[in-house]
Amino acid sequence: MVKKEELLKEYEQVEPTNVSKTHFPPNFVFGVATSAYQIEGACEEGNRGASIWDDFTHTEGKIIDKSNGDVAVDHYHRYKEDIDLIAKLGFDAYRFSISWSRIFPDGLGTKINMEGITFYNNIIDALLQKGIQPYVTLYHWDLPLHLHESMGGWLNKEIVKYFEIYADTCFASFGDRVKNWITINEPLQTAVNGYCTGIFAPGRHQHSSTEPYLVAHHQILAHAAAFSLYQRKYKDKQGGNIGLVVDCEWAEANSDKIEDKSAAARRLDFQIGWYLHPIYYGDYPEVMRNNLGDQLPKFMQKDKELVRNSLDFVGLNHYTSRFIAHATKSPEEGSFYEAQEMERLVEWEGGEVIGEKAASEWLYVVPWGLRKVLNYIAKTYNNPPIYVTENGMDDEENDSSPLHEMLDDKLRVRYFKGYLSAVAQAIKDGADVRGYFVWSLLDNFEWAQGYTKRFGLVYVDYKNGLVRHPKSSAYWFMRFLKGNEEKNGKEE
Ligand code: NOJ
Repeated sequence: MVKKEELLKEYEQVEPTNVSKTHFPPNFVFGVATSAYQIEGACEEGNRGASIWDDFTHTEGKIIDKSNGDVAVDHYHRYKEDIDLIAKLGFDAYRFSISWSRIFPDGLGTKINMEGITFYNNIIDALLQKGIQPYVTLYHWDLPLHLHESMGGWLNKEIVKYFEIYADTCFASFGDRVKNWITINEPLQTAVNGYCTGIFAPGRHQHSSTEPYLVAHHQILAHAAAFSLYQRKYKDKQGGNIGLVVDCEWAEANSDKIEDKSAAARRLDFQIGWYLHPIYYGDYPEVMRNNLGDQLPKFMQKDKELVRNSLDFVGLNHYTSRFIAHATKSPEEGSFYEAQEMERLVEWEGGEVIGEKAASEWLYVVPWGLRKVLNYIAKTYNNPPIYVTENGMDDEENDSSPLHEMLDDKLRVRYFKGYLSAVAQAIKDGADVRGYFVWSLLDNFEWAQGYTKRFGLVYVDYKNGLVRHPKSSAYWFMRFLKGNEEKNGKEE
């Protein structure tokens, strides 16, 4: 079991309470992030087609509070106000996603929906007018429903072609102004939650020992196809960069025992290696091949070539960490965890929990884990440029708490101080971290958890016209970004 004092000895170099902008390089990018289905609403406006999440949320029993993204936080109609907020808080960049079915309502790529193009043009132009750089995600989980129903969506290799057409259209329409693209957000969660546990759309779990791997394989190919297309058709003219966003909780070996150390290493390979090894080394990590055998698809030679080096930067979504111990059969549900032969633990030696607990059952506040993941990526993949594309924590929605209590989010302020100092330390250690994005600008639709979890810097009053109220953490960030974070008082 891990001893707290020993592990943290190294950690407190930049005191979390003292972290400031001066600990970051001058051109370091600070941004906020959102995704289309979680904030836009207007599900039947602008000629938008349905996505797998529309179908999933309208299926009985899938979302904890029976909610959906039909209206969400109505960003579709309030994007100007929301962009004003980003500007007021002082962020340099905004990461948002394009809803594929607003551009191609049936996903097939035959006819561009100009209303969708106009909507995102308006967003991009409004951002640039305020001096905010757009970082655009092409796929944040909302696959056009028709693609899933007519040809099996991510289960079918044909999806690569449709994704390429969609990416081409976005590069052609927005690439004169968008210089940072993310192809796919957290392919791991689509593979595991969409096709193994089934808690996310499209809710499949019937073939959990094969489908997650097939879906991941096709996501990697789709990413690489979009990257290659950009190099051929747009790179010279537009000069943008393309990344893939992987998600990873840090895996700290639960003891010095060799079995625990290799279990922790395995855990990292099953999260990040699954996606980055093919890109950097041409194939899946050896341990995945050994443990999964024929369950894991093979890359054809021409696919290997396509996938290799198909990245300008690594996007990392990081929220939390775990201690990892070897286990012959994982007690956790689903074959995905069994193949990893490990268990995820949350206690230090002596029984204290790994960090303060946020609202989501999986989220503990463990800032040192972020420094470790960043250094791990730097070491394992030859020090690539990294953006932390998401980092944040949630509060529980609480009907009976008065507004001023919900707005005074002290733990979130501590979270950001801790995690930002971890990023600063990783930069000092030598990792090439270029930017950091808060998840999220606004409270929003948290997938299977509906509106019961609030990740926003800005509170959204769901009962009173979706009015936006910046929380203490938003004001803290505003001061941090201006370079005078230690001042007291909420508004400036
Ligand atoms: C990662 C996902 O990209 C985002 O959509 C989600 O809301 C956050 N994690 C929090 O769970």
